[in-house]
Amino acid sequence: MLAPPKVPLINPTSLARFVDALPIPSVAHAESQRTHPAYPGRKLSYHRMEMRECKISLHRDIPGTRLWGYNGQFPGPTIEARRGEPLLVEWINALPSKHFLPIDHSLHGAEHDKPEVRAITHVHGARVSAKNDGFPEDWYTPGHSTLYHYPNGQDAATLWYHDHAMGITRLNIYAGLFGAYIVRDDEEQALNLPSGDCDIPLMLCDRLVAQDGQLYYPVSDDPAAPWVMQCNGNLVLCNGKVFPYFDVEPRRYRFRLINTANTRFFDLSLSHDQPLQQIASDQGLLPVPLQRARIELYPAERADVVIDFSAFAGKAVQLRHQAEGILEFRVRDHGRRDSSTLPAALRGVPRIDPQSAVQNRILTLNETDDANGNAMTMLLDGKRWSDPVTEKPRQNSIETWSFVNLTGDAHPIHLHLVRFQILDRRPFDLFAWNAQRKLLFTGPAQPPEPQELGWKDTVRADPGMVTRIAMRFEGEPGRYVWHCHLLEHEDNEMMRPFDLLPAHS
Ligand code: C2O
Ligand code: CU
Ligand code: CU
Repeated sequence: MLAPPKVPLINPTSLARFVDALPIPSVAHAESQRTHPAYPGRKLSYHRMEMRECKISLHRDIPGTRLWGYNGQFPGPTIEARRGEPLLVEWINALPSKHFLPIDHSLHGAEHDKPEVRAITHVHGARVSAKNDGFPEDWYTPGHSTLYHYPNGQDAATLWYHDHAMGITRLNIYAGLFGAYIVRDDEEQALNLPSGDCDIPLMLCDRLVAQDGQLYYPVSDDPAAPWVMQCNGNLVLCNGKVFPYFDVEPRRYRFRLINTANTRFFDLSLSHDQPLQQIASDQGLLPVPLQRARIELYPAERADVVIDFSAFAGKAVQLRHQAEGILEFRVRDHGRRDSSTLPAALRGVPRIDPQSAVQNRILTLNETDDANGNAMTMLLDGKRWSDPVTEKPRQNSIETWSFVNLTGDAHPIHLHLVRFQILDRRPFDLFAWNAQRKLLFTGPAQPPEPQELGWKDTVRADPGMVTRIAMRFEGEPGRYVWHCHLLEHEDNEMMRPFDLLPAHS
């Protein structure tokens, strides 16, 4: 059970709206050019990203908030990458030795014998070798760092980096450890979409903020096991600000929406019944732009949108989450002309034929009560993190994975390393499954929605449905993970390793 907060929280209706400018995270600059044994004969950009404690203003009228940020920024600096140009990042843990959020030492990987402050960074959506992927158990303590290399051998897409330390990922990300990682390529550039200062990453999350400005993370009523199954904030943050405004010109802009929240899904729309043009999803461009009245984003999902403000000079347009304006665009004409375009076709996404799969895995999503009957454990296919590895795809093979959701909630399921396609969702008979482990469908398969026809790395698995995805396991052999991206679930057993086995020679 949830314990009531011990501190008074900010009442969002008491906050002045749209008094702070939207922060645009700085672009991470390369410290130097270096060689790396993985890329003989090449000079690579070398970046330093130091995780450290910082004090950040979330709103003009909220006292400074203690956070953990990459290079002391929240969100962290944006890493800019180009397809085919590998880069190096040294991820440095310069955090304090004590955590400021409630660790649950009963969770796997966060036991009392583990140091309180541990970190390991993962680039979500990157095709990268296992050693550089940020495996949750590869965490390290303050005073240590790791040098990762990213090949960027993948299509242009909006990725993001975040902490992934075993058993405390929800707390480290909540503390502020995330930022955007943008991959660009020539094909996308040739489309002449809005670019430069009209191409903006927009990271959305929520936090519980107390009246003294400090973050509050909810706890259960059991001090020995404070974990809670979800964390929804009282305030929505856009690039780290509450209710910011953003000055725009009457022209097209590209916004890269990223849901970086622990649990909350966003239901986004514009005021004035203005539609959004969605051009990309998790792993890059859609086949065609889609006009959307609303965009739903589950944790870790991305949507790139183009908004055309040309009819709004002198006016304001709001970005809403449900009925509430969370960001105000103020449209002022400075006489700059818009030479960007929004082409009718963006990028081909050849469909994967599920018939070509060599494995069709059926994987359940489960919830179980613990012995006290209050806290719940969520499992993937009924297994815990420490159970033997069961998913062992072969390099370059195609598989389909069917997520049989036995729970009452939607779970955003994410696989590292690969991009996938959503095949369908199909209702099934839960009682037949529970009684005899038989998959009985109760209705026709529903095709993916139009915005789900691009490449994805996170998929919403709805309750009562079997959600089926298909992917080719390209990448280097090694141990990766797949998990629910509700961070509370991920930290409490809803994460499993998978082994990519070398291709048959
Ligand atoms: Cu956003 Cu395991 O990742
Ligand atoms: Cu990931
Ligand atoms: Cu979940």
